[in-house]
Amino acid sequence: MKPDIKNIKLKTRDIKVHTFSVVDSTNNVAKTLAENGCDEGAVVVSERQTAGRGRLGRSFLSQKGGIYLSVVLKPQISAEQTLFITTAAAVAVCRAVESVSGKKCEIKWVNDVYIGGKKVCGILTEGAFNPDGSLKYAVLGVGINLFEPKQKFPENLPLADSIFHKNDRKIFKNRIKNRVIDAFLENFFNFYNNLQQKEFITEYQSRSLLTGKEITYQKDGKKFAAKVVGIDDDARLVVNRDGEQIILSHGEIQITGMEQPAI
Ligand code: BTN
Repeated sequence: MKPDIKNIKLKTRDIKVHTFSVVDSTNNVAKTLAENGCDEGAVVVSERQTAGRGRLGRSFLSQKGGIYLSVVLKPQISAEQTLFITTAAAVAVCRAVESVSGKKCEIKWVNDVYIGGKKVCGILTEGAFNPDGSLKYAVLGVGINLFEPKQKFPENLPLADSIFHKNDRKIFKNRIKNRVIDAFLENFFNFYNNLQQKEFITEYQSRSLLTGKEITYQKDGKKFAAKVVGIDDDARLVVNRDGEQIILSHGEIQITGMEQPAI
């Protein structure tokens, strides 16, 4: 399908937004743009996705009413530091959503945004690497359940929800959607322009949903119970396990204490 392209002028940069009514995955479209040499900052937005994907190989339900958006990035950072793209984006989503809804957003380490104990947004950053292992480009993908979809969230996703519901007072959907996208991009690029400074980290820590909670996690095939102490300045999860402080990196563990829907 032929995309509708518009330019958004942010305080920090001008960006090209490619809009679609339907794609398989905006991350796939963004990857194709990147492979064809698009400028950094190109954005892909679609009304729905037929094959949206989440972390850990899960699918991501992408019905009409949500925001499905990907950004092509070409940062000079190591593979490990791509985590900061995800964490910066999580804070940017919280700010954007709060600015239109007034509802308090929390971040479930490492890449999910929650409102009132329900997941309303997931973030997936994917990287492409050069033969020498350096980062060629990254694609940041953000899925926000903005409006209640026609088909209810399936029962196997009990923690999935939308930000606005049918019985909310009359809302101007397109205007709200555009405001969320603009506010997200503005906040995200502000953080991204100084990514190494991690200007988002204090807010990321204070929005942490898991802090103070008992969790179980799996590492190297073993299950452990622990209490979350907080998030450190490298966005790793700090837990207390049997009186010992342990630092967990997102790639190496899977939390099983709370359900993790890929909405
Ligand atoms: C997760 O919940 O595990 C992450 C979900 C990320 C979904 C977004 S929607 C836009 C972009 N395109 C995709 O296929 N995935 C991301």
